[in-house]
Amino acid sequence: MQKTVAVDGIQLNVFVEGAGLPIVFVHGFPLDHTMWRGQLDTFSKTHRVIAPDLRGFGRSDVTEGTVTMQRFADDLAAVLDALHVDEPISLCGLSMGGYVAFRYVSQYGRRLRSLILCDTRAGADSPEQIENRRKLAQTVRDLGTEPVAKAMLPKLVSAHTTTHRPDVLERLRQMILANQPAGIAAASLGMAARPDSTVLLSRIPVPTLLLVGDEDTITPADEMRDMADRIPEARFITIPQAGHMAPMENPEAVNTAIEEFLKRM
Ligand code: MLT
Repeated sequence: MQKTVAVDGIQLNVFVEGAGLPIVFVHGFPLDHTMWRGQLDTFSKTHRVIAPDLRGFGRSDVTEGTVTMQRFADDLAAVLDALHVDEPISLCGLSMGGYVAFRYVSQYGRRLRSLILCDTRAGADSPEQIENRRKLAQTVRDLGTEPVAKAMLPKLVSAHTTTHRPDVLERLRQMILANQPAGIAAASLGMAARPDSTVLLSRIPVPTLLLVGDEDTITPADEMRDMADRIPEARFITIPQAGHMAPMENPEAVNTAIEEFLKRM
């Protein structure tokens, strides 16, 4: 079921389904909550799943300017308050969703039961990446979402997905095209401004699962393994036949990894 939740003067669209311990799924850039469909269907049978469209994406309201990762994390905490989620959550974020998760750990660590980091990184952007984010923000404002989809799609998935799962690519394309240019621009500038979260890794207070597509070129497996080595209670798993969008490309392997991780706790 999709709910509209009022937060900080705007309306956010949030998918909420099932009962039990809460798992919150936070999507990547420039996507929306439907990227988690393969997880929401499975985990809503055993858990209360909560998957917001972050501000500026999907059916949520857009705010102009720069939207920081901290703002997204604060929105998340406010959404959980509005839904009366009082118990600690399992928080699962992909890529930009992971950047948001780090800010949530830093600010709201006491409200966490466990953490699942998919295809993400802890470090901040290099000067070159910051410049690219600025260019992307300008391009999307000037020319709309089409060039963003064209530039990003080939990098998001594995060779196997490109050949055998055109439906996954098409879903990604539609998600990107449907978003508002101002929302994409604001998050792009927000990512450029994000702090380095590497110092947080050794202080993550909960069991953490790290998942990465074995063909991810945006946030490569080696980098995520290195992150796992710095987290006190970490489990690291690579997902076969998958690139950056592992939960969409190989949902069976991702769901099995998450199920086993949650069961152990
Ligand atoms: C994402 O998937 O959220 C993006 O690739 C993150 C990024 O551009 O750093």
